[in-house]
Amino acid sequence: MQHILSAEQFDDEQLQQLFVDADMFRQLDQSIESRREVMTRHTGRIMLSMFYEPSTRTRFSFEIAATKLGIGVVGTENAAEFSSAAKGETIEDTVKVFNEYGVDAINMRTKEEGHADRAASVSTVAIINGGDGKGEHPTQAALDLYTIKEQTGRLENLNIVMGGDLARGRTVRSLSKLITRYPGNKITYVSTPELQIGNDIKAQLDEHTTEYEETTEMLSALREADVVYWTRLQTERALTGSDVAVGQDHFIIDKTALEVLPKQAIIMHPLPRVGEITAAVDADPRAQYFRQAGNGLYIRMAMLDSIMKQRD
Ligand code: CP
Repeated sequence: MQHILSAEQFDDEQLQQLFVDADMFRQLDQSIESRREVMTRHTGRIMLSMFYEPSTRTRFSFEIAATKLGIGVVGTENAAEFSSAAKGETIEDTVKVFNEYGVDAINMRTKEEGHADRAASVSTVAIINGGDGKGEHPTQAALDLYTIKEQTGRLENLNIVMGGDLARGRTVRSLSKLITRYPGNKITYVSTPELQIGNDIKAQLDEHTTEYEETTEMLSALREADVVYWTRLQTERALTGSDVAVGQDHFIIDKTALEVLPKQAIIMHPLPRVGEITAAVDADPRAQYFRQAGNGLYIRMAMLDSIMKQRD
């Protein structure tokens, strides 16, 4: 694995290998003896961590994953302010300098779609896209798919209900791309018309003959769900030239929603949530969003292990 830029780049074989490796790293994480052994795997390697946008899960899980593998971590949060980007330095120049410093991978979250691709175009080491504006979040998509397989036992013949801010949410974009790889899946997108999924994603679904539907009827969609994937309003991003936030107050997963949801369904969310899944849902066994976040650590260990092995 060289750069990780888009969910589209993963084939099924790579995904299955990541899942096997993630299972292995979870197992090895259970005792201090094996944790110490794992920490010797990539001693001497360095991961640079540049986050131009806020992050809890992606940044910390990658940095913890690197630390657990013995990889040194250098970086900054709020890179837009705390790096020379604040003085107008281009992302290309920043990356070229890091290449000169001999880092082994660069993990970055950028404000603008396409910035990870720009970084990769000049980098001699792996660029990991930790989210680029409204573009993609490929490592999130991989951990989402891993969670779906872990919790439902399959990746095909699923009715996946994605809801919330589908226009500005990069996680639903990347996950939709991966869902098209498996047969018999249907995606039901629940949103207001203003926040519906982009036409580029619909074109990909059509290309792969993946069935999809767009609706505002949340409860009807939930009644048929195997997987519920909910997202927050991305108010930090402009919506097609307007910064007017469009309400989705009626798309809240609460106890009423739980009543119509099938018993075997699972509820996922990339987090952070800001009210669109109520805290009362957390105790329900179908709520898997914290497990999902935890799975991110092991998927990211598997990704870093693969990247670093290629440099041995
Ligand atoms: N899911 C996710 O990307 O969370 P963070 O924004 O906290 O990294």
